[in-house]
Amino acid sequence: MPTVTVKLKSRSYAVEIAAGSVDRAGELARLALGARPRTAVIVSNPAVDALYGRRAARSLARSGLETLRFLMGDGERYKTIGTARSLYTFLIEHKVERRDVIVALGGGVVGDLSGFVAATYLRGISFIQVPTTLLAQIDSSIGGKTGVNHALGKNLIGAFHQPRLVVIDPETLATLPARQIRAGLYEAIKYGVIRDRRLFQRIVRQIEQIKRLDPTSLTHLIARSCSIKAEVVARDECEGGLRRILNFGHTVGHALEAVTRYRRFYHGEAVGYGMQAASRIAELMDLLAVEDREAIDEAVRLVGRLPQAKSLALNDIISAMGHDKKAEAGRLTFVLPVEIGRVVLRSDVPPRLVRSALKDILS
Ligand SMILES: NC(=O)c1ccc[n+]([C@@H]2O[C@H](COP(=O)([O-])OP(=O)(O)OC[C@H]3O[C@@H](n4cnc5c(N)ncnc54)[C@H](O)[C@@H]3O)[C@@H](O)[C@H]2O)c1
Repeated sequence: MPTVTVKLKSRSYAVEIAAGSVDRAGELARLALGARPRTAVIVSNPAVDALYGRRAARSLARSGLETLRFLMGDGERYKTIGTARSLYTFLIEHKVERRDVIVALGGGVVGDLSGFVAATYLRGISFIQVPTTLLAQIDSSIGGKTGVNHALGKNLIGAFHQPRLVVIDPETLATLPARQIRAGLYEAIKYGVIRDRRLFQRIVRQIEQIKRLDPTSLTHLIARSCSIKAEVVARDECEGGLRRILNFGHTVGHALEAVTRYRRFYHGEAVGYGMQAASRIAELMDLLAVEDREAIDEAVRLVGRLPQAKSLALNDIISAMGHDKKAEAGRLTFVLPVEIGRVVLRSDVPPRLVRSALKDILS
């Protein structure tokens, strides 16, 4: 089984990637946490729980853990402080202690919320990620960003709290809707563009196998994406510098999500447009060769058709970019590719180029 290590000194942890690993969650948890935990609280939602909850619970019980299950609502709108409060109450009522562990079984919504509660309950308890969407397997389960949404914006309340272990079972993707798979694939392309030309080329070459969930292609894609994320996080845990490259495609992506009130695009789809826009900006600034810009465009297209965006008003998108929580002192920082496999951060992109790139991409 491929194992990726996130190297953070005493807080280092393993990302175990293997078919069927949901059934080994207990054994892997004991290896990571030792004999201390008495109780494992599985946090999931009804849909994922119905598919994988029993298997995960059985495995944890086999390893001698008393297993409790907390189910939250399914969807982004439940990633709130209200859901966190219900989970705190559940933990208190069940006398969950500091030595115990929370197991997040689901996509990024479950992972972010569980991680946030784990970061704050009793000033921090252990948590394990068992991600079941492609986006969560290659991105959100690794790196320790946890949080909930506020009525005034996404992910505004949160904490850095690293998991103690990530258990990735690529077979769980068999039940994930195809559109969710595609949404995750855009993020995989992102890793290729920011850090690894060979990964990028491999995704393009094997796109059909990957979409069919061919185990070899899929496992490689997940493992390589996880290694890139792990390496970046290890070098810059709290996003002081390098980690910002992971935001490639996100400046425009977040704005597209915001102007459509998070209803039209999945996050990865908005990032698909965002990567095309950033690449076009890079080309207009003479940073990126036209062939590389075309290759990025083509890779995004190969994944599948993006929801249409041409009805959106350019001014709304541009103004939403200014509200992004990552904008500093009103200056927008763009992550721009200079070749496939290497990006730079630039805060000096002329507004007219942003406008012109958006026009090209969205029409
Ligand atoms: N912490 C981070 O670093 C980070 C990074 C990127 C995104 N995120 C967050 O991740 C969230 C999005 O995560 P997501 O895309 O996984 O969405 P999600 O968690 O909403 O999952 C998508 C849908 O798939 C269902 N599902 C999950 N696994 C399934 C499976 N194996 N089979 C069938 N259905 C399944 C879920 O019930 C849900 O309806 C956002 O809240 C975003 O802010 C966090």
